[in-house]
Amino acid sequence: MPMRPMKFLSSSVGTKVLIAVTGLAFFLFLILHLAGNLLIFVGPEAFNSYSHKLVSNPLLLVAEAGLAAIFLLHVVKAVVNFTANRHARPVGYAMKRWARHTSRKSLASTTMIVSGTIIFGFLILHLITFKFGTYYEDPTHHYRDLHRLVLEKFSHPGLVGFYVLCMTIIGLHLRHGLASAFQSLGIEHPQYNRLIRLGGVVLALLIAAGFAAIPIWVYFVGTR
Ligand code: HEM
Repeated sequence: MPMRPMKFLSSSVGTKVLIAVTGLAFFLFLILHLAGNLLIFVGPEAFNSYSHKLVSNPLLLVAEAGLAAIFLLHVVKAVVNFTANRHARPVGYAMKRWARHTSRKSLASTTMIVSGTIIFGFLILHLITFKFGTYYEDPTHHYRDLHRLVLEKFSHPGLVGFYVLCMTIIGLHLRHGLASAFQSLGIEHPQYNRLIRLGGVVLALLIAAGFAAIPIWVYFVGTR
């Protein structure tokens, strides 16, 4: 008899599938967010008018609620999975593993929970800095001048360094997360496994480098 959906989603396989699906959904958000942010290279008007169009869309609230739900589900399920894995390991097994310098798999999942926690902290600071940061108004268009805020914030070398460090951590989290998600969803084929893994690494690198380029460029070059 097939498993009931709720029972499946709380099983260990269902938990991994949920982590993979919510992770991939947030990854899609990151691609869109990066595309929007790269408009900073075009100029203040392109950057501000894009964000103005976004915030004036009545569907934004629904999208934000969906994004928050996806993010929280990802975090909660990742913590559940991490603690369940720890408890499932018998003491003798754990000791043997430690003696052999922790297996690569458990090292990766520990790294994921640590990088995930840092990303969670980064996200809270990020929202305080930009979304809920100073509201400057563009005197010509009378919409929010987010470009000014971004330039102001990234004129501080400490914040630039912090962002570059966080983007590196996000890149590493994505690199492992993508490979892991493909595996959980059964997206694998003996012939293409290397290519799929390489695709994940390249995408993670592009996202991290694309985001990191913004504070660096603003600090060294960015002007109105
Ligand atoms: C240099 C890199 C980044 C820049 C310059 C940037 C810029 C911004 C700005 C200006 C906003 C406010 C948008 C508005 O209120 O209209 C924002 C919102 C947001 N950012 Fe970023 N961001 C960056 C990286 C990231 C990363 C790596 C993440 C995720 C890990 C992220 C997640 C978010 C989220 C969730 C929001 C709120 C979206 C909403 O409520 O509509 N950002 N970002």
